[in-house]
Parts: sequence; structure tokens; C-alpha cells
Amino acid sequence: MRHLLSAEDLDRENATAVLDTADSLKRTLLGREVRKLPTLRGRTVVTLFYENSTRTRVSFETAGKWMSADVINVSASSSSVGKGESLRDTALTLSAAGADCVIVRHPASGAAHRLADWLVETGTKVVNAGDGMHEHPTQALLDAATLRERLGDLAGRRIGIVGDLLHSRVARSNVHLLRTLGAEVVLIAPPTLVPCGVEQWGAPVHHELDPQLPKLDAVMMLRVQAERMHGAFFPSAREYSVAYGLNEDRLRLLPEHAVVLHPGPMMRGMEIAPSVADSPRAAITQQVNNGVHVRMAVLYHLLAGEEVPA
Ligand code: NCD
Repeated sequence: MRHLLSAEDLDRENATAVLDTADSLKRTLLGREVRKLPTLRGRTVVTLFYENSTRTRVSFETAGKWMSADVINVSASSSSVGKGESLRDTALTLSAAGADCVIVRHPASGAAHRLADWLVETGTKVVNAGDGMHEHPTQALLDAATLRERLGDLAGRRIGIVGDLLHSRVARSNVHLLRTLGAEVVLIAPPTLVPCGVEQWGAPVHHELDPQLPKLDAVMMLRVQAERMHGAFFPSAREYSVAYGLNEDRLRLLPEHAVVLHPGPMMRGMEIAPSVADSPRAAITQQVNNGVHVRMAVLYHLLAGEEVPA
């Protein structure tokens, strides 16, 4: 892998290889007192975050550290970005300072691709940790890892993605990856939160949640991304939650085996009821845990070659 910028970079074989590596790393580390592999010793990984993050940043840092890489965290607010340095100059600086891989989160869609273009001569790898409303490929990988653990092979499985599709990079990356892995994806959202061009995603759009629930093997609830909303996309939080919130009544409409996912951060009481988020049907903390192993696998495939470490 040269970079990981988009879920579209992964064909079925590549995606399965990353997921299998994540699986094997997870099994290798399970029950170990010291969670440390020597695989990336001597490599330098920089996280460059221009947007808030808890789980993505921590899990990338943990992933790098568990593989013995040197991990350096740069946040826009405490770096020279605060003095007006451009993204290009920041990227070239990090590469010149020894970064083998830059993991970038940025509010502009396409930022990770630009970074990869600027670093083309340097050999520094780029991982997209979320670019605006565009893509978040490692989130899709950790969601797929979690679904594989809960459901087995994803071919022919039906996954519903519910809520703020318009502002969601998680949704776009998941539609690509889940379809690549052979699953069928159904999108459910109010008409005001459906992006233009969604017809090209290859997933049907529905506006009513309840009729879809009994047909799903998993349901992924999206956060309502208020920070990206300039205007009223629905009448009130209460009305949104009445129509699209996953509450206990709706949980009962899902088949017994169906899994509930949420990428976090959750707005409890808005898109998901607290009792549903905390129920054994929800795989939310499992998603976070798989995020570490999936990100280890991504770093491994980018920086260490193709052989799975023992
Ligand atoms: C998501 C993101 O940042 O796109 N969070 C995450 O990485 N787990 C989803 C969100 O912010 O709603």
C-alpha cells in the first residue's frame, strides 16, 4: 500500500488482507502482559490533527506504540499552524524531520489527497484519519472488523446506515468498503440530510426507519454533526430522535442477531437511547478496541511489508 486515503483504495483482496492482519495482531496480543511488538522499531509516525478527536487519535497512537514505532502527536492549535503555516509547508516539515508516515485529520475534504501529492517525492506515507465530509477509511475498516467478529463473512449481509449522511465521512467510507466486501448497504435519513450524488453510492436511500429494521443484520447510527450544520436541517432534536433515534422499541424491531454500531462520539438521547448504547447488542466499545488493531494493521501494511508478524 502506498497510502490509505480512501476506502476506494482497497479492493476486496487488500481489504481482507488488512482485516486478517488486524485479527491476527489482536490474537497475538490477547492476554499478553506486555502489549509490545518490535515490528515498527525505528519508524516514526506523526499524527497531524486539525480537528478534535478522542478515539481516532488515541487508537493511532496506541497502534504505533504497541508496534514500537516512535509516535509524535502534532495538533494544529499548538504547532506553527497557529502562526499561519500552510498545510503544504507543515507536511514538508514533518517529512523532513523524519516522519515515515503522517496520519492527518483535516476539516477540508480532499486534504489527505493533497498531502499525499505534496509528499510524493519524499516517500512519506499518508493515512487519512478523516477529511471534512469526505472519507474516514480506517473507521470503515474497524467497523468491518467488528461486523466480521459478530456476523462472520459479510457477503450478502444487509447493513443499514442511519442519520446524518450529508455530513458524514464515516458513511461514505463504509458504503464503499462494505460493498467491496460483498455486503448490501441501505441508507436511511431525512431528505434534508442526504448528500447530492448519493445515487452513485450504489445503496438505496429510505426516509423511514421502522420498515427497514426487521430486514437488517446490523444498523450503524451516525452522529448528528451539528458543528457542520449552518441552518436548520430538522425541526428540533426531539423530532429527529422520534423519527430516527434508535430506542428500545426500535431495537425490538431488529432481528435477534442484529448488531448496533456507532462510530462515536455518541449524542445519547439523540440518535441513540442510552439503554440501547449500553445493551449487549451494541458493539460500540468493541469498535474502539478493534480500531487499535486495525490501525496497527494499516501501519504494518504501509511501513513493514506484507508478512504478518508472529
Ligand atoms: C467520526 C468522525 O470524526 O468522522 N468519529 C470518529 O472518528 N470515530 C464520527 C463523528 O464525529 O461523528
